[in-house]
Amino acid sequence: MPPPPQRLERIPSGIVGFDDLIEGGFKRGSINLLAGSAGSGKTTFSIQFLMEGVKRGEAAVYITFEEKREKLFDDMLEFGWDLQKYEDMGVFKFMEYSPEQIKRVLVEGGGTIDAIITQMQVKRLVIDSITSFALLFQDQLSQKESALALFELINNWGCTALLTSQATQISPDDLTSQLEFEVDGIILLYHFKKQGIRQRALEILKMRGTKTAEKTVKLTIDEQGVRIDPKTIVMV
Ligand SMILES: Nc1ncnc2c1ncn2[C@@H]1O[C@H](COP(=O)(O)OP(=O)(O)OP(=O)(O)O)[C@@H](O)[C@H]1O
Ligand SMILES: [Mg+2]
Repeated sequence: MPPPPQRLERIPSGIVGFDDLIEGGFKRGSINLLAGSAGSGKTTFSIQFLMEGVKRGEAAVYITFEEKREKLFDDMLEFGWDLQKYEDMGVFKFMEYSPEQIKRVLVEGGGTIDAIITQMQVKRLVIDSITSFALLFQDQLSQKESALALFELINNWGCTALLTSQATQISPDDLTSQLEFEVDGIILLYHFKKQGIRQRALEILKMRGTKTAEKTVKLTIDEQGVRIDPKTIVMV
């Protein structure tokens, strides 16, 4: 008899309370979209995900088009994440790229990013954000092709990835909507005002192969980072 199919390994997200919503963690090797408006917590969530990797001996890379190194390192220190220290130790790397450079990487297939990720044996990858990358493409077909090329690259690296996207309302013809069909998971971060009070919430729109909780739950940001309260439902 053939051996029973192996269940995919789950990797802890590092976000307190979040893994309860997704059967224990992200599937290893999955590509997930983290979408939300400005200040909704995308960068904090994604760095926290990388820090959990570092804690577990999984090298982490953060690729950004927008965040400035010094500012990000400074902001993340507030949560106790010393990115400089981890970079010096060779277990974390901050990479600032222009969307054009990433496009070139996709066309040429790898390049410097490829060399670094392979050499560091990176297991967790964040691209923050893919929004400006989308603006590079004129038509849907090239958007889709480049999204697929990017995913293939990530799969070949064997990384579990989080891609941030700067919108909750996704228009039908941007890259994000192309990505929507291709990614394994979509997480929405809400940051909205209700009766004069700003609230935060999280919803899992999809997570392939995972039984997800069909509810929008409370998200908090404090000096420990992002925390989910899986039992508190938020009316969005
Ligand atoms: N110690 C803290 N306690 C409470 N809230 C905090 C704390 N530190 C940061 N925040 C809040 O968390 C938010 C974190 O936003 P973050 O940069 O992760 O969001 P983002 O979605 O990446 O935003 P952007 O779209 O601007 O890149 C900040 O805007 C700030 O309001
Ligand atoms: Mg950000």
